[in-house]
Amino acid sequence: MDIEIPDFLVRHCKNVGYCECANPFQIEIPAPSFSTEWIAERQAEIRRFKEKHQAIILAHNYQIKEIQDVADYVGDSLGLSREAAKTDAKVILFCGVNFMAETAKILNPDRTVILPDANAGCCLEECCPAEELRKLKEKHPELYVVSYINCSSEVKTLSDVICTSGNADRIVAASPKDRPILFTPDQNLGSWVMEKTGREMLLWPGYCYVHTQFTAEAIAEEKIKHPGAKVVAHPECTAPVRRAADEVCSTEKMITYCRTQPAKEFIIVTEVNIIHRLRKELPGNTFYPLPIKGFQPQCKHMMKNTLDKMISAFNKMKPQIQLPAEIMAKARAPIERMLELS
Ligand code: 13P
Ligand code: SF4
Repeated sequence: MDIEIPDFLVRHCKNVGYCECANPFQIEIPAPSFSTEWIAERQAEIRRFKEKHQAIILAHNYQIKEIQDVADYVGDSLGLSREAAKTDAKVILFCGVNFMAETAKILNPDRTVILPDANAGCCLEECCPAEELRKLKEKHPELYVVSYINCSSEVKTLSDVICTSGNADRIVAASPKDRPILFTPDQNLGSWVMEKTGREMLLWPGYCYVHTQFTAEAIAEEKIKHPGAKVVAHPECTAPVRRAADEVCSTEKMITYCRTQPAKEFIIVTEVNIIHRLRKELPGNTFYPLPIKGFQPQCKHMMKNTLDKMISAFNKMKPQIQLPAEIMAKARAPIERMLELS
């Protein structure tokens, strides 16, 4: 690739991002404990609202178990985008983080998309300001930009194609061979895709503050306790962690992998709330979340959503995703390209 590489882009992971929200000490959010009756009452109210508004509830695998249990669909970013693309519900209550709800809106500009907490962001999204990407593209119009779905809608408008962790290798493999590829914003996912596809790429130096705190040493310690367990890690983890895993995949593929393995025990190297779905769907197996410095690995953004905020969102029909029509039109093309390719 014979382009001059701006200093801040990397060819190999350095984890030198500039995400403002990275706070290594805030990894476990103390969860208030509610009675079973309290939870059931709220879930019943959410179901009543859902019927009244002819709504669908989409939830990411990292949502707390009380939210997963009341959702119509629980899945990874790819599954959620597909569900959002095919729904004919009038209202989508999206329980995940902002960029996911925005993707649902972009695919359904005429539907109402509400979310429990408008401040549920994503540190990967923060790592890639659209203005910087725009400037880089102006200097290097030859770049073919593949963006991980964990980015802002504006960054999507500047991208040639979007990918998720569930299809990134396929999307990159299908990218033009005669153009340098820039992968934004996650350098770890990008480096994993380079390993898998053999395609060279420039990597935006973004990273997830949760996944980059897992260590290969913690995996080794956990394996001593559970020697027969298979290790499953998310590709947002660093290379040493990925190398220590038996399988690296998206959250949805983690469910399929654990379902199809003869092993009965699994060490799960991603956000802890996915364990609920794994235990629910595969009750015969045992799952151990990999701790970070002794704490449960939680995403503070995903944890912002609660049952009470879901009720409030249905009640007030807000917070609502509202994006300029021009942004939605431009951002839709690379998302649709992804859906066609995957
Ligand atoms: P998945 O698409 O694999 O669920 O990942 C989303 C995410 O934000 C991981 O941190
Ligand atoms: Fe973003 Fe990381 Fe949270 Fe996923 S786990 S939503 S990448 S901050």
